[in-house]
Amino acid sequence: MMDVLITAMRLVAQDIVSVEMVNAYGSELPAFAAGSHIDVHLPNGLIRQYSLFNNPEERSRYCIGVLKDAASRGGSKVVHEALRVGQMLRISEPRNLFALDEGAPRSLLFAGGIGITPILSMAQRLSQLGADFELHYSSRSSLRAAFVRRLQQADFAANVHFHFDDAGEQQRLDIAAVLTQQCAHTHLYVCGPTGYMDFVLESARALGWSEERLHREYFSAAATTRADDGSFEVRLNSSGQVFQIPADKTVVQVLDEAGVIIPVSCEQGICGTCLTRVIDGEPDHRDAFMTAAERASNDQFTPCCSRAKSVCLVLDL
Ligand code: FES
Repeated sequence: MMDVLITAMRLVAQDIVSVEMVNAYGSELPAFAAGSHIDVHLPNGLIRQYSLFNNPEERSRYCIGVLKDAASRGGSKVVHEALRVGQMLRISEPRNLFALDEGAPRSLLFAGGIGITPILSMAQRLSQLGADFELHYSSRSSLRAAFVRRLQQADFAANVHFHFDDAGEQQRLDIAAVLTQQCAHTHLYVCGPTGYMDFVLESARALGWSEERLHREYFSAAATTRADDGSFEVRLNSSGQVFQIPADKTVVQVLDEAGVIIPVSCEQGICGTCLTRVIDGEPDHRDAFMTAAERASNDQFTPCCSRAKSVCLVLDL
């Protein structure tokens, strides 16, 4: 955890604000790698994850971009309406769940809307490395797309392709054509709304791309509760204590009430902070963090949102 000072806030597209922060006590900030995010502790008590979009070489500042979400549960609304230049904020050190494979011979970056933030950082890094890459940036319109001018003026501008819904058929993303033009060792990175990411990832899988070449970062998860959710038991392996998890509560909530604290951050199944080992039983995975192979192994789950298919889950707690 560290204290930072907000030094600039700018509207960088319709409903998107950038927030620049420096160390509150004047020293350098911890280094970060492209694709990293920070946890931001907001004044209303919520903790939200935001990707860093600035150049990973910079040690003097962190920059995040935040889309004002109409369905905001208090995160983006607070950033847009309550944060001000000169305000102190508490943040985590950067963490990277969306790391670049810098040894890949070619990288294909896909950004949908606000998903441009980690992708911009990656493009800057790849450009510095002199690496071979291509960036496809999709948005409903240029007005809603952040950093367009910056990308047009970047030294890697020739690698950037814009796909704005309101710009006509010639800008449409032909995903099959883009994916089939790649060599067999190209790595793909995608960030954006869930529907966009699923479209890109499913297109790649349908064309035979292997999972280890597909990298993704979700901003928000699909709904993690269902009308037919039932109750199940959780047993702690260390103490043998058994807890009943009712349909309207998560494992994290029930254990928290009993004084068993599992660290959480997003509480939506996207960050992996709460990942817990499962010793016995079958989880009902509701996260967007693990890969399909990791979910299939059923030896860990995200108790902030995932549930159980079996009557009981035995947890390594
Ligand atoms: Fe983020 Fe559970 S707290 S996945």
